Amino acid sequence: MKKAKIITDKHYIISDIDKRLYGSFLEQLGVAIYKGIYDPGNPLSDEKGFRKDIIDIIKEIDVPVVRFPGGNYVSGYRWEDGIGDKKQRPSRLDLAWFTTDNNEFGLNEFADWAKKANTEPMMAINLGTRGVESAQDIIEYCNHPSGTYWSDLRIKHGYKEPHNFKMWCLGNEMDGFWQIGTKTPYEYARLANETAKVMKWVDPSIELIACGSSAYHTPTFGEWEATVLDQCYDNIDYISLHSYYDNNAKDSADFLAHSDLFSEFIDSVIATCDYIKGKNKKKKKINLSFDEWNVWSRQDLPYERWSSAQHRIEDIYKLEDALLVGGMLISLINHSHRVKIGCLAQLVNVIAPIMTTDTGYWKQTIFYPYFHASKYGRGTALNAIVDSPKFDTKNFTDVKAIETAIVENQENEEVTLFILNRSLEDDIELSIDLRQYEGYKVIDKIVLYNDDLNAVNTAENPNNVVPYSAKEEVALDGGRLTSAIKKHSWNVIRIGKRG
Ligand code: AHR
Repeated sequence: MKKAKIITDKHYIISDIDKRLYGSFLEQLGVAIYKGIYDPGNPLSDEKGFRKDIIDIIKEIDVPVVRFPGGNYVSGYRWEDGIGDKKQRPSRLDLAWFTTDNNEFGLNEFADWAKKANTEPMMAINLGTRGVESAQDIIEYCNHPSGTYWSDLRIKHGYKEPHNFKMWCLGNEMDGFWQIGTKTPYEYARLANETAKVMKWVDPSIELIACGSSAYHTPTFGEWEATVLDQCYDNIDYISLHSYYDNNAKDSADFLAHSDLFSEFIDSVIATCDYIKGKNKKKKKINLSFDEWNVWSRQDLPYERWSSAQHRIEDIYKLEDALLVGGMLISLINHSHRVKIGCLAQLVNVIAPIMTTDTGYWKQTIFYPYFHASKYGRGTALNAIVDSPKFDTKNFTDVKAIETAIVENQENEEVTLFILNRSLEDDIELSIDLRQYEGYKVIDKIVLYNDDLNAVNTAENPNNVVPYSAKEEVALDGGRLTSAIKKHSWNVIRIGKRG
């Protein structure tokens, strides 16, 4: 069997991991909100119309933040349409997705839902068709205690206490031609800075995320980030990254290697942030918010123009998609010194790990690595130096078969190794010296594997690709951990004091 070796040390600390790294995203799109998390009249819903079973599973994942309401949708959104008496709310055309939104679910509903789901809202504002004034109004409505038009209106709507939303995205993908109100780098940068300034005047405690490029491969990537950072540096806290990959080329080896591109993208944005920091002699560091990332084939479902709540972009995820999601999670953990927020896009029904039916829900393959990372990836990320067999693919060279992230949770006295084997042919014998963790025992090894890389779960067959426990595959002798890692598999090895 081929071999791989990992070297780590409890003092080789990358960073404490910000739990917001394991966030997600809900857009007013398809049946993510309507018939997804919000389904009044369904016996599974509560008195507010929120699906209780979906709240429960989101709590089980422990999703720390959820971005809302878009995405592309936000660039035409009038937030005032979604407040106050539901019967009085207007229906509007949504030009992002060519649907109609009756605005029954707005920001107060989202605040209520987020509380129940034990998650923190990450609000996005419209910088496509709107600007400074509407941003001032929304922050005043949401976060100002009382005594002004907008804060008193919130109180009148039944919310005496301010929502105190902390995280705000300054628009969405404003470089994209598909965006309502696309901007040049300088147009966006100026607008974002003025909006940021005013929002922080209203509430200085908020954190602001400026739009980075909508993808690494855009023609303005780099120039966009540099211009935005140059203009907005003092008023923003994060710059965003978005990435979606697909295997439409049907080349699985090449597809799985895309987590290397994901890492390269992050490194390039860090470099750009620090270039502007140095150029302008700034003390503060700008961190990264990877607020949209996933596998997405970009194939839509047939839909009727201007209708509401129809099924849209519901990819059915294969095992290989879950593996790449695992690879991207490993990259996020290994960049946790600079990536503080991450949002798997999206959470329910629309390119999502959780799929609802009228009577329940089922889990896509990508659910599992996301769940494992959120559950076991809290603590301190340790540097892992991996000596692994390598291979080349169409677009990548020296692709390491074994990718890993190591997280130490001092509170629970546990260490978790997330391990991805990207080789399509070879099982690999892995070894790692863990003598520093004296007295630790193997808790578990969780494996997500199927002979068929194309295997999927469906509503009818929801347990086709599910993780299994393989604790017996791990040996921990004299502080050396060894385990055979199956070809094209996702693995979570956990050791701990309590065993
Ligand atoms: O998540 C789907 C879409 O992808 C979002 O609306 C947009 O921001 C991105 O292009």
